[in-house]
Amino acid sequence: MDTANSATKPAVLILLGPPGAGKGTQARMLEEKFGLVQLSTGDLLRAAVAAGTDAGKAAKAVMEAGELVSDEIVIAILRDRLRDEDCARGVILDGFPRTTVQAEALDHLLEESGQKINAAISLEVEDAAMVTRISGRFTCGSCGEGYHDTFKPTTVSDVCDKCGGTDMIRRADDNAETVASRLEAYHAQTAPLIAYFDRHGVLKSVNAMGGIDAIAAELATIAEAARH
Ligand code: AP5
Repeated sequence: MDTANSATKPAVLILLGPPGAGKGTQARMLEEKFGLVQLSTGDLLRAAVAAGTDAGKAAKAVMEAGELVSDEIVIAILRDRLRDEDCARGVILDGFPRTTVQAEALDHLLEESGQKINAAISLEVEDAAMVTRISGRFTCGSCGEGYHDTFKPTTVSDVCDKCGGTDMIRRADDNAETVASRLEAYHAQTAPLIAYFDRHGVLKSVNAMGGIDAIAAELATIAEAARH
């Protein structure tokens, strides 16, 4: 964590963007820099699937089809996680909200904890780039660090730069057919939130077609401003 910034107030940041836009990559970098907690509903759902919970059983087939899991399940999972003590440090929401119902539920959840949205950052990318990004993605199974065959390879083949783990994972829903459904779901159900957050005065748009570090620098500036 950047200790120079640790005295600033907790913030709630939202990363909006289609599959492969770089939400997870950037959320992890913001988490490290500002000590905020990354809350990825995709990760929470994958954990529920792996644990075989009722929510996980209901979500599995929907995720495999590239569709959105029901608002009821996702909101319940996020509500539970937001109540954990570490979230009082401030959070980066990665992949939530994805529908207007979820956005309205978030307002209520934050009201309960006396928090509010500081910025909803829309990562703007072209559909064609997302397919390339997703098809080259892999993640360290030990620490969760994300990589890309071309854009962010490990220094030593199949060895995590961060923790030295060698168990690299490729996601089951990262295939061409499912990616097409995920993009369709994004455009139909999630993209309207860009106008929603604009109306609420918290929207920031970032051109996410550049390199990972350049985008990270732009997001850090937005995060810094949002926390003062
Ligand atoms: P989720 O896990 O949220 O997946 P997603 O939204 O499809 O997003 P991704 O994780 O695929 O992409 P990302 O934007 O995080 O990109 P990343 O940083 O990895 O959701 C999965 C499923 O769960 C959904 O389909 C749905 O079924 C369900 N779900 C989740 N949340 C839900 C909700 N709220 N409501 C209902 N259902 C929900 O980057 C991708 C790759 O590109 C990486 O390899 C990375 O290294 C590389 N990369 C990143 N940035 C750049 C760059 N600037 N240049 C080049 N390469 C880059």
